[in-house]
Amino acid sequence: MNIYFQKSFQRGFGTYPLKGSELQDAVHTAIAVGYRAFDTAQMYGNEAETGEALASSGVARDDLCITTKIDPDNYTAEKFLPSVEASLRAIKVDRVDVLLLHWPPADGDIAPALRLMQTAHDKGLAGAIGVSNYTAGMMREARTIVDVPLVTNQVEFHPLLDQSKLLAAASETGIPLSSYASVARGEVFKHGLFAEIGEAYGKSAAQIVLRWILQKGVPLNTMSTKAANIRSNFEIMDFTLSFVDMDRIDALTATGHRIIKTGMLPWVPEWD
Ligand SMILES: NC(=O)c1ccc[n+]([C@@H]2O[C@H](COP(=O)([O-])OP(=O)(O)OC[C@H]3O[C@@H](n4cnc5c(N)ncnc54)[C@H](OP(=O)(O)O)[C@@H]3O)[C@@H](O)[C@H]2O)c1
Repeated sequence: MNIYFQKSFQRGFGTYPLKGSELQDAVHTAIAVGYRAFDTAQMYGNEAETGEALASSGVARDDLCITTKIDPDNYTAEKFLPSVEASLRAIKVDRVDVLLLHWPPADGDIAPALRLMQTAHDKGLAGAIGVSNYTAGMMREARTIVDVPLVTNQVEFHPLLDQSKLLAAASETGIPLSSYASVARGEVFKHGLFAEIGEAYGKSAAQIVLRWILQKGVPLNTMSTKAANIRSNFEIMDFTLSFVDMDRIDALTATGHRIIKTGMLPWVPEWD
């Protein structure tokens, strides 16, 4: 089974932009609440701190799903594997559970980095591999380049953005999506619909948003510095949104609010 669809890993905790005691506290709270999947990246500069927080949590390594992502600056034959080994040393693990390419390369040629990912996987440095921020076209192309299944394309996914083309590509290619910016960095709360729907279920606006994402078949990465939010973001398995409420939320995707816009960083592609 795809690792992110295992029950204990469907609700992942993201670590960007956490550092220092804020990161330690957030990860320890997340562990206490029940999160077992954690997301870091070379670019976040917090792999070592994330590893330290997890090691000191008392949870057995086998019960955790640790994801890290490779910085596009390391997508060369010389730098790629040494950078993965440096990540493993920083996190203090023999291998990560999931290794992702953080962004497509700036030149759009996805093949070289994907082949290097396959090598990292074959060497046992990662239990599974995947990508992040790929377009639908890149998902289709990726499938022709590597033999190892790609376990996810981690993308911006929330109810204010129409990602139906990526969802279609996910079904077609067998590369499932997973989410980041799941509450659109707070933007979702400007829409009254989530609190209104929440009243009927006895749930908060954030819980409605996150449940909608899960019911779209998309595992979550959420992040909060606040214990109450870390907890409530996790407590979303005891209710199901009706088809009618799913449709009402679907209608909001036409809002077209994107957090990560083309041109913001050199690697951000032309989105679908
Ligand atoms: N692959 C990529 O390129 C990529 C890009 C961005 C992020 N990510 C990953 O995805 C994770 C999450 O994404 P994100 O942090 O960018 O966006 P996000 O989850 O949409 O937004 C995080 C913000 O939402 C607030 N929040 C969270 N839960 C809340 C709740 N229940 N009620 C009210 N406010 C709430 C948090 O504030 P408080 O602290 O005040 O609760 C925090 O400032 C990151 O940590 C990172 O691991 C990946």
